[in-house]
Amino acid sequence: MKFFIDTANVEEIRKANQLKILDGVTTNPTLIAKVKKPFMEVVKEILSEVPNKPVSLEVASTDAEGMIREGEKLAELGSNVVIKIPITEEGLKAVVHFERNGIKTNVTLVFSPAQALLAMKAGASFISPFVGRLDDISHTGMDLIKQIKQIKDNYGFKSEIIVASVRNPIHVIESAIAGADIATIPYSVIAQLIKHPLTDIGLERFLKDWESVPEKPF
Ligand code: E4P
Repeated sequence: MKFFIDTANVEEIRKANQLKILDGVTTNPTLIAKVKKPFMEVVKEILSEVPNKPVSLEVASTDAEGMIREGEKLAELGSNVVIKIPITEEGLKAVVHFERNGIKTNVTLVFSPAQALLAMKAGASFISPFVGRLDDISHTGMDLIKQIKQIKDNYGFKSEIIVASVRNPIHVIESAIAGADIATIPYSVIAQLIKHPLTDIGLERFLKDWESVPEKPF
């Protein structure tokens, strides 16, 4: 399973990149707003940190024409830019346009298998079902991933499933078990994936015992 990072914070992207676990970046207007810098400045920083991996940048228009205009501008910033488009009727029209013109799309805000099916039929390169937000309203988000995976396999759709709205390590593990192509993970959850209390306890013990070893070479 590929790991994308779900952030517009270039420091977080850099830290994940150093671990060699990073396969791409996803952003959204909320994440961009959080960094409190001019949009183009943020985007250029991200693209220079990950020049060869897919970076999803979201359009802000709600009509197909506006999405196409914005998406074409964003696509000029790098061949790895993926245009992130909400799943609406207008959004699907824009997806068809971009994919026909060789520009990759990521269909976002997917909350049902029907939406995913439509996005896959429209030819989206990526689709982003949001698990955490479904869990928040007492629906099991991971059930959606299993359903979409089944639909994808039944018909051989090429769209890659990005598990989005990931809130904890269990979401990541269950995504891998379900066979999702990608999980887009906040940096805080990547850090959680590394940690285990028994590792901390074990390390503390090793370091303490090491102190009593005579004539250490280092
Ligand atoms: C997906 O690409 C979105 O950026 C993101 O995963 C949304 O997550 P949230 O529900 O934690 O805001």
